[in-house]
Amino acid sequence: MSKILLTGATGYVGGTVLTQLVSSSAPSLKPLTIDVLVRDAVKAAKLKETYGDRINTIAWNGLDDTTSIEETAANYDIVVNTGSGFIPEGAVAFVNGLARRVKAGNPVPWLLHISGCSNLADRPLTQPPTPVREWNDEKDASEILEHMKVLDEAEPYGQRTAEIGVLEAAAASGVQAISVNTPLIFGEGTGLFNQQALVIPLITMYVIQHGYGWKLNETANFDRVHVLDLADLFLLLVRTILEREDRGVGYLPSGKRGVIFPTAGRVLIKDINQKCLDVAFADGTLPRENTPKTKEIRLVPLEEIANKLTAGRSDVAERGWGGHKATTGVLASKLLGWKPTRLEEAWEKDFVDELKALKEDRRMITLANCIAHSEK
Ligand SMILES: NC(=O)c1ccc[n+]([C@@H]2O[C@H](COP(=O)([O-])OP(=O)(O)OC[C@H]3O[C@@H](n4cnc5c(N)ncnc54)[C@H](OP(=O)(O)O)[C@@H]3O)[C@@H](O)[C@H]2O)c1
Repeated sequence: MSKILLTGATGYVGGTVLTQLVSSSAPSLKPLTIDVLVRDAVKAAKLKETYGDRINTIAWNGLDDTTSIEETAANYDIVVNTGSGFIPEGAVAFVNGLARRVKAGNPVPWLLHISGCSNLADRPLTQPPTPVREWNDEKDASEILEHMKVLDEAEPYGQRTAEIGVLEAAAASGVQAISVNTPLIFGEGTGLFNQQALVIPLITMYVIQHGYGWKLNETANFDRVHVLDLADLFLLLVRTILEREDRGVGYLPSGKRGVIFPTAGRVLIKDINQKCLDVAFADGTLPRENTPKTKEIRLVPLEEIANKLTAGRSDVAERGWGGHKATTGVLASKLLGWKPTRLEEAWEKDFVDELKALKEDRRMITLANCIAHSEK
């Protein structure tokens, strides 16, 4: 039976992917035992207690322990790396471990890596303007990695360095690797620990604290995907590898053409702020005595948003909240039949759900964990 290893089980994305993997009724997934790398012993025990013999937990020191990662990865057919996407050495170590299997003549192994669309973003507030373009994972397949390399040479960015490193190491070693280059994720996760998204909770928090919304410019954008639709995509990838005779080799994109975009709609940052204001005014949370009486969206300085929303990282803030990063995904639906179902209605509902969660003290900020590594 195929051996599958997963990271990020305690997080928002990885936790959701794990619950969807173990609850799937697909015949290829039902008999699988998933090995899960977990740093915290208490969380490992809770995962084991919940999922029983569907998982094994393996203690590790995390994404900086490249020697152990290589040794561990060398035992698996599929690695699903859905933990922090910001640690290049650790991500590449998974490829290097899998490469040992290629050398030993085993069936070609796969790495499914999570990354993010801010890797393609410009920095329109602090750098000279560059042409804004929309990236398509099919039409632009040969250009995406090359473009990221140019950006990363000028200015290394951990999440992008990791994505480039994974895809290039895979291409060089014969390992198969896909980077799921993910936009804004929304919706409640289904994992045991962090179930919270980032963007809508953070903007909701700001809007409620200040009584007004914010923008860094008029045009900053994000594509979006519901966390359950994203998890569905990871399941379809795993199933394709398990179920097809060719194990997806030559069928799924890989290595230098291995980026796919799981996108299901596009939004502007200022419009997300508007929606947060709309729900807060609609239920009477705003205005308060000392906040604006009408809905306002103010132009604010980058430093303020970096300090309040991205753990002081102004580069992350500028790419995420000020940058342009339109990505259109066609490969997932074309090759895997991926059909996101949580669209406009789920998006609208999420703003109401997030405000409710905030008011019920069910929200905390997880960005520091998400970006994990302070490479700058
Ligand atoms: N959330 C989003 O909106 C979003 C959007 C686009 C792309 N992404 C990508 O998805 C990744 C995961 O996001 P998320 O929202 O699931 O984050 P999260 O909820 O904060 O979870 C992060 C996971 O990574 C693990 N982790 C963090 N630092 C680690 C380290 N040094 N070594 C080993 N494991 C480590 C955490 O494990 P512990 O419990 O042991 O800390 C946790 O399981 C992001 O890093 C990013 O690249 C996320």
